This record gives sequence, structure tokens and C-alpha cells, in this order.
Amino acid sequence: MSRLIIVSNRVAPISEGGPAAGGLAVGVYDALKETGGMWFGWSGEVLSSTPPHIDVVERGPVTFATIGLVRRDYDQYYRGFSNATLWPAFHYRADLIQYDRHDFEGYCRVNAWLAQQLVPLLREDDVIWVHDYHLIPFAQALRAAGVKNRLGFFLHIPFPAPQVLLSVPPHRALVEALCSFDLLGFQTVPDLRAFCEYVVHEAGGQVEAGADKAPTLVHAFGRTLRAQAYPIGVYPDEIAQLAKAGTRGKPARTMKATLHERKLIMSVDRLDYSKGLVERFRAFERLLDQVPAYRNHVSFVQIAPPTRADMHAYQDIRLRLESESGRINGRFAELDWTPIRYIHRQYERQVLAALFRQSHVGYVTPLRDGMNLVAKEYVSAQDPDDPGVLVLSRFAGAAQELTGALIVNPIDIDGMADALAQGLAMPLAERRARYRDMIAQLRENNVSVWRDNFLRDLKDGEGTAKRRAPR
Ligand code: ADP
Ligand code: F6P
Repeated sequence: MSRLIIVSNRVAPISEGGPAAGGLAVGVYDALKETGGMWFGWSGEVLSSTPPHIDVVERGPVTFATIGLVRRDYDQYYRGFSNATLWPAFHYRADLIQYDRHDFEGYCRVNAWLAQQLVPLLREDDVIWVHDYHLIPFAQALRAAGVKNRLGFFLHIPFPAPQVLLSVPPHRALVEALCSFDLLGFQTVPDLRAFCEYVVHEAGGQVEAGADKAPTLVHAFGRTLRAQAYPIGVYPDEIAQLAKAGTRGKPARTMKATLHERKLIMSVDRLDYSKGLVERFRAFERLLDQVPAYRNHVSFVQIAPPTRADMHAYQDIRLRLESESGRINGRFAELDWTPIRYIHRQYERQVLAALFRQSHVGYVTPLRDGMNLVAKEYVSAQDPDDPGVLVLSRFAGAAQELTGALIVNPIDIDGMADALAQGLAMPLAERRARYRDMIAQLRENNVSVWRDNFLRDLKDGEGTAKRRAPR
């Protein structure tokens, strides 16, 4: 059996053996802990001058190979082109896109350098699976270094509509670089469709729909490759077990005791402007305005660990949320009740799962999200006899599958307040029916199915590149 090599910018923290906040680290860690293999990526360290070297650490079936970045590379590749250009563009925030040609050069340079670091660790029959927007030029860089292995790429975030992608100046170079992989995976069918539209209308390529769930064939930039939607999943039964055990733990018991029978609305996100937190806070305020009976009878807990805290856009969203939570709490708080508990900490998975299980509503309303694993974790953690209700943005990839949620538009404050009221008052029979529908979907498409489908198509596709485009 060939060895699996995962390549991503962010790697699950090695010391705790568990994943960081962020869908990529959580999903990939879950996928890799079963199959074993090597995980290559950034160590999370920014070095002042010393030339970085690879640290190799074995943890059970997984070998972690990580490397630091020097300051200039971190600034241009990670903070610059990846997170100040690609992240806002791919999340439809054209207003936040910043572009500097030198950052793009740095992004390509770091991709080439990382590829050179990986080459000596590779074996001939390794299957290489590259993840996310930081590493779009990675296949080109490996091919330039003579690597002939199968190369797959999975995009964890949305792929934008062509009109939005066009605002990224090197858009054509990026899509050409993507076409150097053998298989491209997207979270949802709309993402796949947006990519195909770009190929046909902007790159003069052709696409052929695959028969019976087979990947789409893409002919562009003189290559033929394959592309498909593979929605990432979770392990719902493992999360349910964690949640059940976690409710006996101290954090969950403390939460229960301090609620004093009030209903609980729960949200967990990285503190990112794509997550729609300001609108979410305002919709909770609207609920308290419109249904006075909920004042002092419902609490909203928002857990949001800061992320990319050295970037302006993230400092701005943090300030706005501090101001919004302070304003709303000032308006409604009582001596014995704080409406919004706004927390910046990371928690263990078990604690989060238990809090999800204890809550009446899971409130997941990103403005855009590739998938949103929190939505899937929320449903998985529920008690089947007395499940909570998921309020979910239509712009999260998860909304394509979790149709038993109350689907909302995250900029419609009144609509979200209505959904919160509906969720808090929903009869048990309806909650159970919606939960059954969603948990069945999560079990059918768990994270092993995601991994196995992708790797099957990556291995099956051998020979695709030799096919010619139809006339
Ligand atoms: P993204 O990848 O944009 O961060 P996802 O919802 O797909 O969004 O994934 C976030 C992952 O990070 C989830 O698995 C979630 O449980 C985890 N996470 C988010 N916030 C925290 C936190 N405060 N403590 C621990 N884990 C967190
Ligand atoms: O899943 C989306 C994702 O952007 C990952 O690519 C990323 O690792 C994670 O969220 C968190 O962001 P960061 O790695 O910048 O902390």
C-alpha cells in the first residue's frame, strides 16, 4: 500500500497530539489518525534569522515533519498573499482584498522552497495530498523538482464566482497552477461549478461532466485533470460519546449551574470576519427587543479564539465585537444575568461537545464558509432524545447537506431573530425529526468517507493526463 503524504500550511499541534482551532487541522487529523502517513507543513514558528530545518516527530501512526518560516516569508506568504489577498477574495469580501505584487512573488517562492524541503522525504509510490489556499502553486513546484507522484489538492474554503476571482490580479496564474494537480477537491458542488465556469469562460478550457458521480474532466492550460466536490465530514458517533462524557466534567457542570434553568444559545468560531459575528450579535439583540419574555430567560455564549491577530482586519473585527457585546450587555444585563458571554479561549474538544449538547440552539451563521465543521459537530453532540436546534447560514457549505437546520441569511437580522425564536420554542417531535434527518446524513458522509472517496479518485485517475481534450 502506498504511503499517504499530507501537505498543509497549518499542522495539528504535535505536543498535545490533538488539533488546533480550524477546520483543516481538525478534519485532516481525524482522517490521518486511521490511515497513518506523513504530515508536512509549517511548525507555526516565525524565526528571526536562523535557516529553518525540518523537525521530524513520530506520534503513533503519523510522522509530523514541520519547518519554521523566516519573518519575510511569513509576512509575504502567510499574512500577505494567503490571508490579505486570497482569504478575503475567496470569502467574497472584495472590499478587504489587499494586493502587493511582492507578496505574490513571496507566496510562489515559499511554495517552491517548501516543495524542495519535501522532495528528499518522498518515496516513489507516495500519494501526495495538498490542502488549502496557501499551497495552490505546490504541484507546479514539485513537478519542476522532478516529482512524478500522484498529486491531489483539496480546497477547504469556498471557490469564488469568476467575477470575484477576477479581482485577484494573478487569477489566471493561480488557476493554471491548480491545473497542475491530478485531482482537485472542493467542499460543495457550487464551488466546483464556480471553478468550471472560470475554466470555460476565462481560461478557454473545456469541462466534461463525469458519469454517475465520477469526477468532472477538466481540459485547460494543455493538461487534463479531474475535479469533484467532496464535502468534509466529522466522526459523529465519536463526538456524541465525547459530548456525553463531557457533560459530567467540571466546565459543563459549571455552565449548567450558572444558567439557572435559562435556555442556552451556543456559538463557537475562530474570531474571523467571515463568520458573521457582528450580525449574529445584533440578531440576538433583536430577539431580546422583540420577545421581552426571553430577557433573563436565555443566555448566548460565543466562544471565539482570536486568530491572525497581527492583521488589521482581525484587529478591527475584534474591536467591533468588543463594542457590540458591551453595548448589548449594557442594554439588557441584570444583576444576575449577562445576556452575551463572549469568551476568547480555546477549549478541549470534549468541553465544546458537552456545551453543544447542553444548549438549546446551535447558532452558526457565517457570511461565507467552505464547510463549517462546527455545524456538524453541533448536530453530532446532541442527545437523540432531546436534541437542540441548529440555526445555520445558507452560505456555509454545511447547509448543502444539513437541510434539517433552520436555514438563514446571515445578513437578515430580523430573519435570524425569527429563527432563534423558532428554535427556542420548537416542539420536541419536530426537533427529533430534524435531528434524525441530519445525523443520518453525517453518519453516511463521515470523515473517512471524505478521505476514502478523494484518495480513491486520486489513485483511479492514473492515465487521465494522457487523455486529449475533445474537439
Ligand atoms: P474554520 O476552519 O474556518 O476555523 P470550521 O468550523 O470548519 O471553521 O472549523 C473550526 C474547528 O475548530 C472546529 O473543529 C471547532 O470545533 C474548532 N474550534 C473552534 N473554536 C475553538 C475553540 N475555542 N476551542 C477549541 N476548538 C475550537
Ligand atoms: O479551514 C480553513 C482554515 O483556513 C485553514 O486553512 C486554516 O488552517 C484554519 O482555517 C485556521 O487559520 P490559520 O491556519 O490561519 O490559523
